[in-house]
Amino acid sequence: MSTNLIILAAGKGTRMNSDSPKVLHAVAGAPLLIHAMKAGASLEPARTVIVAGHGADEVSKAARAYDESAEIVLQTEQNGTGHAVLCTKDALAKATGDVLVLYGDTPFISPETLSDMRDARATFDVVVLGFEAADPARYGRLVMDGNTLERIVEFKDASDDERAITFCNSGVILCSAAHMFELLAQVTNNNASGEYYLTDIIGLARAAGLTATAVACDEAETMGVNSRADLSAAETAFQARARREALEAGVTLTAPETVFFAHDTYIGPDTIVEPNVVFGPKVTIENGAHIRAFSHLEGAHVSRGAVVGPYARLRPGAELSENVHVGNFVEIKNATLAEGAKANHLTYIGDASIGEGTNIGAGTITCNYDGVFKHHTHIGARAFIGSNTMLIAPVSVGDEAMTATGAVVNKDVPEGAMAISRTPQENKPNLARKLFDKLRAKKARQQKEDE
Ligand code: UD1
Ligand code: CA
Repeated sequence: MSTNLIILAAGKGTRMNSDSPKVLHAVAGAPLLIHAMKAGASLEPARTVIVAGHGADEVSKAARAYDESAEIVLQTEQNGTGHAVLCTKDALAKATGDVLVLYGDTPFISPETLSDMRDARATFDVVVLGFEAADPARYGRLVMDGNTLERIVEFKDASDDERAITFCNSGVILCSAAHMFELLAQVTNNNASGEYYLTDIIGLARAAGLTATAVACDEAETMGVNSRADLSAAETAFQARARREALEAGVTLTAPETVFFAHDTYIGPDTIVEPNVVFGPKVTIENGAHIRAFSHLEGAHVSRGAVVGPYARLRPGAELSENVHVGNFVEIKNATLAEGAKANHLTYIGDASIGEGTNIGAGTITCNYDGVFKHHTHIGARAFIGSNTMLIAPVSVGDEAMTATGAVVNKDVPEGAMAISRTPQENKPNLARKLFDKLRAKKARQQKEDE
């Protein structure tokens, strides 16, 4: 059966004290909203509809950047979760199958949990995701009778007996689109908050003779973000899980607690990651690479056997083939390094292609930017770029060519040639000694005057 995803993301998130809508604050380099969309994507939804309100334009842009088919509906006034879902009614008028409701500020619902809900939907008309709360606080309470969920009562409206229930509502709910909109049409705002509660559809479903149940997940999955403190707690939780998963997948982390992952980092088995390494979004690392301490990588691909760092920076478009070495204080952006190429010290390589087995000497810079345009540098295979070479792009250096130390290269260097561009050296006999004598005498005079 097809599923249509509804993500509630209209809230302002007052407690974030932010100019940005809450769901656009990031965990592991991706907005909270994208985490929710990724979770929902595991059910291969036919449609994804996001209910936006505060900062709707920005929310829409972020959602479409991740999934260009995502649809946005506006909820101009936040009159409750039931009202929010009702806002999708027109958009989903022709939708068949089920609707799954997720919250845009709840990033950790797992694909396994959603698949458990799907399984329960085979038997029940309405499936709610619940959790045993360590501290049930102000969550809605799930009133169960055996396997049957009878109703959900919001904390504000609950009796003392109901407040004693510890099985709580996560907010995630799955039922047919037809039932959802039929039941929502009957929901009123006659309650302690004066809001239209999505949770009211359970009692209405049961009264109409439909079946309902709750599937339980770990409380950690239901963690929502309402404040900056929650956001940092979510980041901590994400990192703890990512480190555990990397270790389980065969990655060596010498000091796991100092390594930071993005939501989409992939690292193959037998890769070693030393302390204090940060992965930004879109990094893939093949098996058996070595990422040394204090390196920062984003949008980069590192192949088998490559060594990166210590203190290396790989920026978007850095593409390292097998056995490439990139050493300390080397920055690489939008550049490919073919098999076995080496740039070991103090170098900037941007908008470039470096051939197989080529060695880039210390202090080399591809001067790729003229203030307006970016230009490409090509260096062939088995070339040797002398220390402190400035490559003024666009420029190319042929296979097995060399540049002399300190060369400023603004003309192509043919295959096998050596480019030398420096002012000739002249040695002045005894000039250094004379200069030292003169300066030391001057210093001595000054010291005497000061006494
Ligand atoms: C809701 C549930 C409660 C559950 C809790 C779990 C209802 C009535 N209550 O309560 O049972 O235990 O979540 O966290 O559903 N939103 C909109 N438009 C609105 C209202 C809300 O988009 O008009 C969005 C919010 O931005 C948020 C989500 O829906 O992402 C939940 O809303 P919130 O007001 O936080 O619900 P709770 O009162 O916490
Ligand atoms: Ca909430």
